[in-house]
Amino acid sequence: MEKRKVILDCDPGHDDAISIIIAASERSTLDIAGITTVAGNVEVGKNTVNALKICELLKLDVPVHQGAAGPMVKPSEIATEIHGSTGMDGPELPEPDKTKEEQHAVDFIIKTVRSSKEKVTLVPTGPLTNIALALIKAPDIKDNIEEIVLMGGGTFGNWTPAAEFNIYVDAEAAKVVYESGVPLAMFGLDVTHQVIADKEIQKRLSSPDNEIAVFVSELLEFFGRAYKDHFGIEGGPIHDACTTMYLLEPDLFDMKHVNVSIETKGEFTYGMTAVDLLETTGLEPNTMFARSVDQEKFWDLFEEILVTYNEDE
Ligand code: RIB
Ligand code: CA
Repeated sequence: MEKRKVILDCDPGHDDAISIIIAASERSTLDIAGITTVAGNVEVGKNTVNALKICELLKLDVPVHQGAAGPMVKPSEIATEIHGSTGMDGPELPEPDKTKEEQHAVDFIIKTVRSSKEKVTLVPTGPLTNIALALIKAPDIKDNIEEIVLMGGGTFGNWTPAAEFNIYVDAEAAKVVYESGVPLAMFGLDVTHQVIADKEIQKRLSSPDNEIAVFVSELLEFFGRAYKDHFGIEGGPIHDACTTMYLLEPDLFDMKHVNVSIETKGEFTYGMTAVDLLETTGLEPNTMFARSVDQEKFWDLFEEILVTYNEDE
């Protein structure tokens, strides 16, 4: 079966790391053209080091390109209270020998999409700054993008009452992406909070003899404790994993084609994704919105991925 060419744009990030594992697994049908990093959970340099560490652990031989050091308009915001000062506190991975590429992430995205014989799927799991800048700098690439499969937004917020972190950090970039006309698949908090890695799930995924499973356990332990302390939730929702799980098994998710607009002006609603589930606006649908996930099948598949992870595929 032909592999689907993807670029993973991320801010690792505990759940970004899990998304990368899924994309790189034996079960995956994805051809990872590269990983691009963006300022988000922590500063972009730290996110890049984390991406390099993850690639080394996974023996994933793909280029890592560092991207935007901050949002397009407003000052950066980071989420160290959730991800720790390194952006991926918990696991102790060695300093990577692998180094980032010289080319900026935005130029890598443009070059890769322009030169690809088949359409490329972009998989952003952090703020949308790199994606927006690529679309602004090279609008022609829209015709060779299969889909943008993103984690962000939702009908409620986790950074403000109205806004989810990835969208809130750079709502201007999100507006560019949602108004681009490129097909979108959106995994917001409505669905990502249905895949919370609580203690029971953590116990089920634990496998001391499996290096990748140990890494995931250490991620989930820190991430879960941060969610308990910060939100009172018994475990971390593995938000970003929904994007790559969707690419592997789309039928896990119930999707609805709706219009989504991005608020960039509101005093209390900046960064809100206005998800028109009841079609009140009459606006053209622009997004496949994930409403729910088959949780049992999701965890079954993730458990299988961890058990069978094979770097030598
Ligand atoms: O709101 C959740 C999102 O913000 C996830 O992508 C997480 O990694 C953080 O970037
Ligand atoms: Ca992320």
